[in-house]
Amino acid sequence: MTAIGDPITRVDGHAKVTGKAKYAAEFAVPHLTYAVMVTSTIGSGRILSMGTSDAQHAPGVLTVMTPANAPKLPQGGKAAVHPPAGRVLSLLQDNLVHYNNQPIAVVVAETLNQALYASSLVTVRYQRENPHLNFEGGFATAHPGSHGKDPADKSIGNLEQGMAEGEVKVDQVYTTPLENHNPMEPHVTIAEWEGEKLTLHDATQYISGVKQTVAKSFGIPDENVRVLCPYTGGGFGCKGSTWSHVLLAAMAAKVVQRPVKLVLERPQMFGPVGGRPRTHQHVVLAAKRDGTLTAMQHDVHSHTSEIEDFTEPSSSVTRTLYACPAIKTSQRLVPLSLATPTFQRAPGESTGTFALEIAMDELAYKLNMDPIQLRLKNYAEKDPIENKPFSSKHLRECYEQGAARFGWAKRNPAPRSMKRGHDLIGWGMATATYPANRSSASVNVQFEPNGRVTVTCGSQDLGTGTYTIMAQVAAATLKLPIELVNAELGDSAMPKSPVSGGSQTAASVTPAVQAAAKQAQLALFALAAADKDSLFHEVAPQDLDFENGKVVRKGKSGGEDFKELLARNGNKPIGATASAEPEQDSEQYSKHSFGAVFAEVSVDESLGMPHVQRVVGVYDVGTLLNEKTGKSQLIGGIVWGVSLALHEEAHIDNASGRIVNNNLAEYHVPVNADIGEIEVFALNFPDTKFNPLGARGIGEIGITGAGAAIANAIYHATGKRIRSAPITPDMLLT
Ligand code: MOS
Repeated sequence: MTAIGDPITRVDGHAKVTGKAKYAAEFAVPHLTYAVMVTSTIGSGRILSMGTSDAQHAPGVLTVMTPANAPKLPQGGKAAVHPPAGRVLSLLQDNLVHYNNQPIAVVVAETLNQALYASSLVTVRYQRENPHLNFEGGFATAHPGSHGKDPADKSIGNLEQGMAEGEVKVDQVYTTPLENHNPMEPHVTIAEWEGEKLTLHDATQYISGVKQTVAKSFGIPDENVRVLCPYTGGGFGCKGSTWSHVLLAAMAAKVVQRPVKLVLERPQMFGPVGGRPRTHQHVVLAAKRDGTLTAMQHDVHSHTSEIEDFTEPSSSVTRTLYACPAIKTSQRLVPLSLATPTFQRAPGESTGTFALEIAMDELAYKLNMDPIQLRLKNYAEKDPIENKPFSSKHLRECYEQGAARFGWAKRNPAPRSMKRGHDLIGWGMATATYPANRSSASVNVQFEPNGRVTVTCGSQDLGTGTYTIMAQVAAATLKLPIELVNAELGDSAMPKSPVSGGSQTAASVTPAVQAAAKQAQLALFALAAADKDSLFHEVAPQDLDFENGKVVRKGKSGGEDFKELLARNGNKPIGATASAEPEQDSEQYSKHSFGAVFAEVSVDESLGMPHVQRVVGVYDVGTLLNEKTGKSQLIGGIVWGVSLALHEEAHIDNASGRIVNNNLAEYHVPVNADIGEIEVFALNFPDTKFNPLGARGIGEIGITGAGAAIANAIYHATGKRIRSAPITPDMLLT
C-alpha cells in the first residue's frame, strides 16, 4: 500500500525522460503559424514610427503587428490589471517605451525562421528620453510598497528606547542584485481561436489565472477561454503572472485567423517576464551583552518599474523571526526605467534572510557568542509583532539536529582558523524561514470501469511533484497501491486550484484530494447498497470500508472488487468532486516553516575563489508528503541559494537600460561543479492546525538562509565580511 511520506519516484518521470511529456511549445496544432516578438532597444521614450514594409514583404510573413495596427483592447489593454495574476502589460495599445526589451511588435510567419528573419527587418524611430536608472538616487523620493497582506510598514514597541538599551550594535547595509528567472523552458504560448472561443497552450504556474486575465483583457466571458498546461518546465515565480506575450499571441492569432505559437527567445526572458528586484537593506540590531535583542530595524528599498509597483518584501523575516520588544520595518519602492519585477523563489525571504542572517552573525561575533546560541537566546515562542502563537514551530530542533549533523561543535569561531592546503575553510550557519500559504482548491476522484482511479485537479506541476503527491495522497486515502492511480492536471476545465506560487500547491490540493477520495468512496458504497447483486446490498455506508480496490465490511476480510461493482452497474465511472478550504481558525495562528542551514566554504587564498564544499539543512516543514520529491525541492532551493550567494546578477547598461548579460553564457548560474555535498533533513512534525495532512509548502524555503550561511562561512574562512550578493572572487582577493 502507498502511504503519505513514502519516497515515491515521480509518477511523470518516465514520460519526461522518454519525451512523452508534452510542454506547451510541443503541441502540434494544425495550420500553426510562428510569432516572434520585437522588443525595444531604448530604455525610455516613445516610438515615432516603425518601418515594417520590408518585413511585411519578406517570405512567409502573415502580419507585422505594431502599435499602429494592433487590435484595440477594452480599456486600452488595462482591463485585466486586477484579476489574479493580472499585470500592467505591453499590448501595443500605445507608443510608449518604459524599459529596454519591452515588446513593441509581433511578426507572424509560416515558419519560425521566416518570422525571425522578418523581425530583423523591422526598423524603429524613437524619441529617446534618459532612462531613470539611479537606484540609490531614488531613495529620497521612494514610496511605500506593500506585498499581498504584508503592509509597507510594520512595527512594535519603542525603537528609540530599545536602541538606547542596546549595549552592542550592528548597523549595516546589505544589498542584493537584479536577478532574472531562467527556467529551462522559456515562456511559451500557443493561441488558437474558434469563433469567440480561445484555447491556449501556455507555460504557466496558474492556468485559471491566465484564463481570467485573458478573458478580461479581451472582454469575453471566462468560459470562452481554455488554458492547457500539463507540464511546466520550471516556473520559480516568473510563470505566476500572465505577461504580455500571452495576450500578444492571442491578438496575433485573431489577426491572422490561424493558430499562433510564440516562444520567448532566451534574451527576452530578461525583462518582459519579471525578475527579482534589487534590494538595499539597512539593518540595525541592538542587544544586551548577554545577547538579548533590545531593538531591530530593517528598512528595505527595492526597485520597481515606472508602470507598476512590485514589492520585494525582504523585511518580512524581521517581522517574524526573533523575539524583540522593539521592531521597526519598512518597504520602499524606487521606480526605474526597468521592467516590472515579480515573485522569484521566496520573494522577500531569500533576500531578507541574506541581510538579517548576516547581521545576526555579525552581532554574534561582536558579542563573542556562538551564532546558534544568539538565535536560541532570542527564540520567538510566538509571532513577535502579530502576537499570535505559531500553528507549529520546531526551529529549536532544526538548530540542534543541524549542528549535530554538520559537526558544528568542532568549529573554532576565529576567522582564518581553518586551512586545507591552499584553501581557507569557513563554516557558517543561518536560519531559514518561509510562510505557510494555503488556498481553496477542488479535486475530482473517480473510480474507473477498468479498475483504475483517476484524480483530477486544475493545478500545475512545475517539476515540483504535483502529479506524484496527488496520486500518492489519493492512493493513501483509498488504501490502494499508487500504480492504480492516474493523476491529471493542467487544464482550466478541471476543478479549480490556486496559483502554484507561494509554496501553496501541496498544502492546498492534497486536502481536497483526501476529501474527494472519501466522497468518491461513499458514492461507491451507495452504489453497492443499491445493487441487489452486491455482497453489500442495503448495507449502511458506515459499516463499509475500502481497501486494496475492494469494498469490504469493516473489520472483515473478503469483499467486492469495485471493478465488478461498476461492471454490473452500467460500466460507468463513479466519483465525486470536493473542495477544501483553509482551516477556519487558521487566522488565529502565525503560520511559517523554519529551518537551519549550515555551509562549509573553501576560499582559495591566492585567487579568492569561493567554493561551497557542503551544505546541511534541517527543515521544519510539517508532514513530508513524499520524502523523495520533497527533499529534491529543498536541495533545489539550496542550489539556488548558492547561486544567490556567489553567482547571479543581471548587469544593466546605464546608458540604455539594457541587461547586457541577457543569455545563459554570461548570466552566471551554478553548474554541478559549483555545488558540493548537499544533505537535507525534514523533521516531519505535522502541522494539523494548518492543514489536515499537517503539510506546509516546501518549494521556496530551501533558498532562504542558504545565501547568508555561505556569506557567514566566507567571513569565517577569510575574515572578510561581504554584505553584497553575489560574492565574487575580486571581493576576496587579499
Ligand atoms: Mo513562487 S516565487 O511564489 O512562484
